[in-house]
Amino acid sequence: MRPKVFIANPVPQAVEHYIAEHCEYRKWDSEEPIPRDLLLHELANACGLLIAGGRIDRELLGHAPKLKVVSNMSVGYNNFDLEAMKSAGIMGTNTPSVLDDTVADLVFGLILTAARRITELDRYVKEGRWQSGSDKHRFGVDVHHATLGIIGMGRIGEAVAVRARNGFHMNVLYCNRTRKLETERRLGVQYCTKRELLQRADFVVLMVPLTPETNRFFSRDDLAQMKRSAFLINASRGQIVDEEDLIEALATGGIRGAGLDVFGTEPVHPANPLLKLPNVITLPHIGSATERTRADMAMLAARNLVTAVLGEMPPDLVAELRQSGMRGGTERETE
Ligand code: DGY
Repeated sequence: MRPKVFIANPVPQAVEHYIAEHCEYRKWDSEEPIPRDLLLHELANACGLLIAGGRIDRELLGHAPKLKVVSNMSVGYNNFDLEAMKSAGIMGTNTPSVLDDTVADLVFGLILTAARRITELDRYVKEGRWQSGSDKHRFGVDVHHATLGIIGMGRIGEAVAVRARNGFHMNVLYCNRTRKLETERRLGVQYCTKRELLQRADFVVLMVPLTPETNRFFSRDDLAQMKRSAFLINASRGQIVDEEDLIEALATGGIRGAGLDVFGTEPVHPANPLLKLPNVITLPHIGSATERTRADMAMLAARNLVTAVLGEMPPDLVAELRQSGMRGGTERETE
């Protein structure tokens, strides 16, 4: 009998066909998130779940006696309760690599939009307020040859650094849990402490994964270290930043502006003060959202799902589950 899986987010047809070649499947086909009780109900018989970011916790695992793998259709997997998955012997996978360039492009979009005031001046023209040729109230700041500080030099951080170095001739500083000498040589970037980076950078890019250690790890003290002329760019996870501290820094001139693709709560609440600040660019978490990249992520997630339910090691098993996940997973019944 072929393994039963549940697809909790819409995927392209080619991806569905690929899953159908190997598995029996049921799916949720709406862009709205699947109601939790329906998801729990669907998991009664499934040995694999493909999902884009829903909460995977003890309660859910308790409703999924046959589950072997959760295949996340995103690179971030802060939605996984890793301890719960470890003790239940459930594998968890993500979709690294295929989105690096796409997210790095968006980071540069945020940098350019914030520095050159693109959205603000777009509104200015469309509202018919462009009366004179040019005036200094519309000036922005240069990106080229400025100093970029990247906090978190993983694959996406590197893709941002490549663009900064090769396209914009920027001076690139980075800090990371571990120093990366090969990256320094290859890309011409400079390792420094977080404090030094904050004091020197014109643009600070946050590119760290959300974990219990990085939750609100960027707060008042860090913002106070930044230059008043600097911008903060966040396209990783909103919870990494203390949003109240950020609002205060932006509202009081502590920093010049911010480009945000992510928020502490998503979708962001319309009353969030960040939406009222003219020096903040806000996007609805679209870092990886291009047609091609989302299709690639869906196919990668499907391959991880199918590989795991067929009893093989999925290529993108997340690091924290590499020890225990597979053993427990393969012991579970495949139906
Ligand atoms: C991811 O894959 O984690 C991204 O945030 C999705 O845009």
